[in-house]
Amino acid sequence: MHNDDKPEDARRFWEERYSSSGRTWSGRVNAQLVEAAAELPPGRALDLGSGEGADALWLAERGWRVLAVDVSETALQRASEAAAGRNLLDRIEFQCHDLNESFPEGTFDLVSAQYLHSPARLDREAVLRRAAEHVAPGGVLLIVDHGEAPPWAKEHLHRFPGIEEVLAGMQLDATWTRLRAEQVGRETLGPDGQPATLVDNVMVLRKAA
Ligand SMILES: C[S@@+](CC[C@H](N)C(=O)[O-])C[C@H]1O[C@@H](n2cnc3c(N)ncnc32)[C@H](O)[C@@H]1O
Repeated sequence: MHNDDKPEDARRFWEERYSSSGRTWSGRVNAQLVEAAAELPPGRALDLGSGEGADALWLAERGWRVLAVDVSETALQRASEAAAGRNLLDRIEFQCHDLNESFPEGTFDLVSAQYLHSPARLDREAVLRRAAEHVAPGGVLLIVDHGEAPPWAKEHLHRFPGIEEVLAGMQLDATWTRLRAEQVGRETLGPDGQPATLVDNVMVLRKAA
């Protein structure tokens, strides 16, 4: 993964990635979302890069109305099937966007971007700035990034941006409060079942009411 040279079309890259295999992610909600959203009253949520929908389903089951957005139709289809299986289709809307090119309309009480990294072209700074613009007054923007490559990664070509770099790139004004901006360790199992600690960069920001 090279950060500086990403000619590949996002739609083609992710569609190929999802459609060339069966289920790609664990199906479990992201731990940092659980922690951040547990304290929030349910409202309207936007999940950016929603993948196969585990976070959107979890939010919907807790009373949120969710808009789940991804560039891959296959990922959205899997998420929609999972939602149907749990009777959640009336609470989740799915939209396909290449966030480099288009962004969903509306404002949201929670905008969540979980591991919105991509080996294909992704103008993250611009996407995260737009994400902030779509947070409703009093709402929360939750960004969870990989802080570093997992210990089992063979190549470390991808450079994950640091917390301050991400926040600076968003150029937030004084209407924003940082509720959390920190690195957090997360215990997991690697691909061969080996225990490992992953590092997450967690940013929770609130827009003034
Ligand atoms: C690393 S995965 C994370 C998926 C999910 N948020 C999770 O935590 O399991 C990144 C997701 O972002 C989506 N994505 C990447 N580039 C995108 C783009 N330009 N527009 C919309 N979605 C994109 C991918 O299709 C993928 O589902």
